[in-house]
Amino acid sequence: MMKDFSGKVVVVTGGASGIGYALAEGALDRGAKVVISDIREDTLAEAVATLSAKGEVLGVKGDVAKYEDVEALAQAAVDRFGKVNVLFNNAGVFAAGVTWEVSLEQYDWVIGVNQRSVIHGIKAFVPRMIAQGDECHVVTVSSGAGITVNPGFCSYSMTKHAVLALNEALWLDLQTQGVPNVGVTVVMPGVVQSKIMFPEKTSGALEGEVAQRLSNPVLAAVEASMRDAVDNGLPRAELVRMVYDAIGNGDLYVLPNFTDEGSQAIAQGIALGRATAQNWYPNLIAPLLESMKEAAQ
Ligand SMILES: NC(=O)c1ccc[n+]([C@@H]2O[C@H](COP(=O)([O-])OP(=O)(O)OC[C@H]3O[C@@H](n4cnc5c(N)ncnc54)[C@H](O)[C@@H]3O)[C@@H](O)[C@H]2O)c1
Repeated sequence: MMKDFSGKVVVVTGGASGIGYALAEGALDRGAKVVISDIREDTLAEAVATLSAKGEVLGVKGDVAKYEDVEALAQAAVDRFGKVNVLFNNAGVFAAGVTWEVSLEQYDWVIGVNQRSVIHGIKAFVPRMIAQGDECHVVTVSSGAGITVNPGFCSYSMTKHAVLALNEALWLDLQTQGVPNVGVTVVMPGVVQSKIMFPEKTSGALEGEVAQRLSNPVLAAVEASMRDAVDNGLPRAELVRMVYDAIGNGDLYVLPNFTDEGSQAIAQGIALGRATAQNWYPNLIAPLLESMKEAAQ
């Protein structure tokens, strides 16, 4: 369990803005060296300039939806700093839509940035971490929408559910394949202050869809209430503290910051322990884990 970040190398995708920027800042505050990657060159350069006041920072432009860019990111981090200890699979996008109206291009865009990106991160970074053999951790930012489904959230919820399951699978595989040096945390924030409601800035091809989307009164209402909720969401520093505490404690889950009792109960009932046998439902996991660990020895 990684409690001391000084001298560690931390990579953050989507690190030029919002939660990713704050996670990078949190790493520098804890003495780490940081690599931030983003699809936007302008905000990436600004972020590298401001973060550099706190420590060593490398910026790498790239699109997480492309495997070759994520592989190049891992190599750039190793070339510059010699290793990678923490990967934050953080880049993500949201666009409201009606299941049958969302264009195939928009589905592909959201699946690429939110879901394939995490497959890319695991494949490019985890083998390097296993070969390194020192303390490493993969953190993926899913969402409260990874355990709930709201109207207008089709592509977003689908991809955030998928990466929650993928990271639970990663956690189980690392245990059962006998890999002790790589930890896993999946973060399911509720609503956090960020620029997530302006995703078209990262995908010019979708600009034409905004007006069409907002002409649907339900979607317009969803986006308006989301913009308001994000503006008044959890301060990023608070989420960052929760995430670094979870890495230090080796926690698989950072549960959503839902405030009402019903939502908290849903989060705990559904999310906590799906893969860890802390939950009453998959009680077959515990003996299975034990027997697979024995097999790996
Ligand atoms: N803000 C919230 O309320 C909230 C809640 C739950 C989960 N999340 C998740 O948090 C993560 C970070 O989002 P945020 O809220 O900070 O939003 P944000 O828009 O402020 O930051 C996302 C960053 O990702 C970058 N990005 C977008 N597409 C990319 C691509 N193809 N390749 C590389 N970088 C790309 C953007 O340029 C931006 O810098 C996302 O995965 C999001 O789904 C956010």
